Amino acid sequence: MSYPVWEVPNIGNGWVIGLIAIFHVFISHFAIGGGAFLALTETLALKKNDDRIYAYIKKHSKFFLLLTTVLGAVSGVGIWWAIGLANPSGTQVLIQNFGMFWGAEWVFFAAELATFLAYYYTMGKMDKKQHCVLAWIYFGISFWTLFVINGILTGMLTNGGWLNNNGDIVGTIYQAFFNPAFWPAMFIRLFIMFALAGIYALLTASTIKGQDDLKHYLLRYSAKWMLPGLVVGPLFVVWYLFTLPPATQQIIMSGLSVIGEGNFSLMAKVIFLAIVFATGLIGMVIVGPFLNPKGFNTTFALMLMASGFGFMFTEEWSREMMRKPYVIYNYMYSNGLRKNQIAQVNADGFFTSNAWARAEGATLAKEDAVGHGKLMFRYQCMSCHTATGTGYRSMARLLGERDENAIVNLVTLMKDNHVILSEESKDENGKTVITTKAKTPYNGYMPPVVGHQDELDALSKYLVTISKKGMEAGAEKAEAQMATEPASLPTTKS
Ligand code: HEC
Repeated sequence: MSYPVWEVPNIGNGWVIGLIAIFHVFISHFAIGGGAFLALTETLALKKNDDRIYAYIKKHSKFFLLLTTVLGAVSGVGIWWAIGLANPSGTQVLIQNFGMFWGAEWVFFAAELATFLAYYYTMGKMDKKQHCVLAWIYFGISFWTLFVINGILTGMLTNGGWLNNNGDIVGTIYQAFFNPAFWPAMFIRLFIMFALAGIYALLTASTIKGQDDLKHYLLRYSAKWMLPGLVVGPLFVVWYLFTLPPATQQIIMSGLSVIGEGNFSLMAKVIFLAIVFATGLIGMVIVGPFLNPKGFNTTFALMLMASGFGFMFTEEWSREMMRKPYVIYNYMYSNGLRKNQIAQVNADGFFTSNAWARAEGATLAKEDAVGHGKLMFRYQCMSCHTATGTGYRSMARLLGERDENAIVNLVTLMKDNHVILSEESKDENGKTVITTKAKTPYNGYMPPVVGHQDELDALSKYLVTISKKGMEAGAEKAEAQMATEPASLPTTKS
């Protein structure tokens, strides 16, 4: 919780990470799935001893080279840049705890790039069998980049016995890495990668000119890369959903179960959209390149690619949302506050606990409550909200018609966002049952507000100034002041 806050107007800093990450994932998944595609297709060319397939591989791998080594690598660095700026506390936790794994990741990554360059530049110049082995080595190495990042990403959400319920680290980092979602998530990603490899291959195959039989053969072959995801993918998705924290499952299910009422949660809607993209994509691939390769062209291939992008966007967005309000589940909230730190910050005060906020606060007059409240907002709320305007979860919009009283009540309520009440009761057989219930409706969405009462009051005062009611009152006051002030200064004669 001791880093400055990077303010990004309108979209909020979270979306800077999101946009770069989704772009990166769309390419990096291709780097791995495409590796399998190159290896298998080259094995096919070797078996059939077909130079035309080799020529296609050459063309496809040039596209692959440019996309993965340039855009993939640059956007990967971009993610580090964005997470370091937008969520330095979370990035610090990742580096400190998963340091060895990151090290391994970068070694695999460097080896992956080097192998691909060797693969690409020896094509046609090397013994065909050996070159095919090189393709499989490339896929093998890139698989390990997936293995490592998958353990870190899933460990941020389903971290097994690594933490206790208070958010203290009690287990080993291996418990976080080989967590319950590790295997299902890994297979799901592999299936997505194979499907993406097929989609990219459809694009390059669609540009083949004057060799219709080869083109149709490759289109049908590429379309089949959707199969693993189609046939066994759903099973792994169900397995994955069962490994999620109960609170996350509840948010998804409470959304899905009320679909009929038209009031389901945003996450359920987006997951539904992901399913629509996936089934639409598979349907289009079957009726398009698979059954009617003749009519397939580059425009159609680009449409498939857009649907693939839509799917990745919704899938990655939902996965990130599932972790909210945490950046590392059960350990650290999105705003950098650690779960096991709440009581201490409430006792010591927010400005005492946060070095940067304290330094910024020191530049303000002591009685400037609105100024201090603005800092409270920046450090505790801005990871998920913008202040004014209509941007990303704009606070002015979300405060709606609340007046000062309602805002004070809201902030008071939000102190207990993390509190789970448990109630003992007897069922009809006289057995004791314990039911748990979140104390506030914001549990699972927002972290608790922390600090001394005067700091919370300052936050409320600031929120009033950006609320609709507060702005109206402010404008009236200013008008009233204008009316009572003399239009021009009286001139005095000397
Ligand atoms: C981890 C992310 C996160 C943080 C941090 C966060 N919020 Fe929120 N907040 C949300 C989400 C998600 C919603 C629901 C948004 C929606 O309905 O569009 C929300 C909704 C709200 C609402 C509208 C609630 C309602 O019932 O109408 C208010 C007010 C609000 N937040 C205030 C705050 C304040 C004040 C802070 C800082 C003390 C804060 N939030 C910090 C995620 C967050």
